[in-house]
Amino acid sequence: MEQYAINGGNPLVGEVEIGGAKNAALPILAASLMTDETVLIENMPDVRDTNILLNAMAGIGTHVERIDRHSVKINGSLINDLVVEGDSVKKIRASYYFLGALLGKYKKATVVLPGGCDIGCRAIDQHIKGFKALGASVQIAYGMITAQADRLVGSHIYLDVVSVGATINIMMAAVLAEGRTTIENAAKEPHVVDLANFLNSMGANIKGAGTDVIRIRGVERLHKTEYAIIPDQIEAGTFMFAAAATRGDITVKNVIPKHLESISAKLIEIGCEVREADDAVRVVASRPLHHTHVKTLPYPGFPTDMQPQIAVTLGLSQGTSIVTESIFENRFRYVDELIRMGASIKVEGNTAIIDGVNRYTGASINAPDLRAGAALVIAALSAEGMSTVDDIRYIERGYEDFHIKLQKLGAQIDKVESERELQKFKLKIS
Ligand code: EPZ
Repeated sequence: MEQYAINGGNPLVGEVEIGGAKNAALPILAASLMTDETVLIENMPDVRDTNILLNAMAGIGTHVERIDRHSVKINGSLINDLVVEGDSVKKIRASYYFLGALLGKYKKATVVLPGGCDIGCRAIDQHIKGFKALGASVQIAYGMITAQADRLVGSHIYLDVVSVGATINIMMAAVLAEGRTTIENAAKEPHVVDLANFLNSMGANIKGAGTDVIRIRGVERLHKTEYAIIPDQIEAGTFMFAAAATRGDITVKNVIPKHLESISAKLIEIGCEVREADDAVRVVASRPLHHTHVKTLPYPGFPTDMQPQIAVTLGLSQGTSIVTESIFENRFRYVDELIRMGASIKVEGNTAIIDGVNRYTGASINAPDLRAGAALVIAALSAEGMSTVDDIRYIERGYEDFHIKLQKLGAQIDKVESERELQKFKLKIS
């Protein structure tokens, strides 16, 4: 029964070191098997999703050597199986990155159809469209997707929707295709740029990542590299909103402030003080917070992965706020849990109408998915009294040592695994 036990009501104060970006690490790890030479990846987050991916890589014959908690050496020269399957890999969305990586290198891949957080219908038609444009045939049967080609040839691909996953997958396959590929209406997220930088450091020729037109000139092979993953924009943003919701003062360190601009802008709008340094951002919430409107959009817009965290904060901000989710249709599943903590929120379609309340109160709640889970922990930390948060395996998919980092900021939070440990926590806080 792993759960977080939380006694809320204290402002979180201090500094927190942000780790490598999960959503950059996943494609970078998958792409590292595209060369037969050894690749060293640093600043890798030690979270459940990256570990599942590394196990799956080892499962098909990749040599994976952990140097330390955040560094790994990967060698894909002895891959002996182009079928990636298994229960754990099915549960992570990023398993589909094996398609682009293996198709690019071996011109064939079969991967179990991806799961991931239940945040709405997560189509992969744009990935398939891209692979087909490069000359691959794609079949789905018995829960597996297979892409194969005699040869991959560069093409002009216009994405119908801005998709992080499709942009990344097409980019991976195209770097080893013959000739030139153009991806239009590409995703511009920092992790798309990080993957492009990583592939370029392996000898790929990718230009324009970070804009909506990415141009790739295919190369024959990729070579070894050493690469450090960028800091996690969403982990940083989560702690920034934890400062706001608990009326605290948190400095997130080891970040790229530019990646946090849309998050900082909203925090300033609702009344926080945000101070940027070279690689740190400090958020101080000493005044009462007020309402705002926010709509999630592809980068550089406000990230959908920060939507639950801002909603939890707006639930404690004076006035009526409106949060519109424009990326995933099922990303308000945490609202019922928040209402049980005293929030006043009404969801209509893809919009949440939030009437700010003065306080939340502790409750027993469930994490419905990764980001919503983290947001509910923030709610519990700002609430009066004790809460328990169940299903924390979702949170552990993407946050390394979440409760330990929060403890260092003064939070009363423990991970408990039995009724006895829960009783101990209750005694400690009484
Ligand atoms: C990535 O998911 C992230 N996951 C998500 O983070 C993030 O929420 C999302 O991008 C948006 O930023 C990883 O990086 C592993 P999309 P992805 O393809 O790639 C539609 C987290 O919390 N679409 O950009 O699956 C789709 O339905 C996770 O860390 C199609 O219609 O997202 C959605 O509405 C959760 N056809 C929109 O595009 C396609 O072929 C954006 O999805 C692909 C996507």
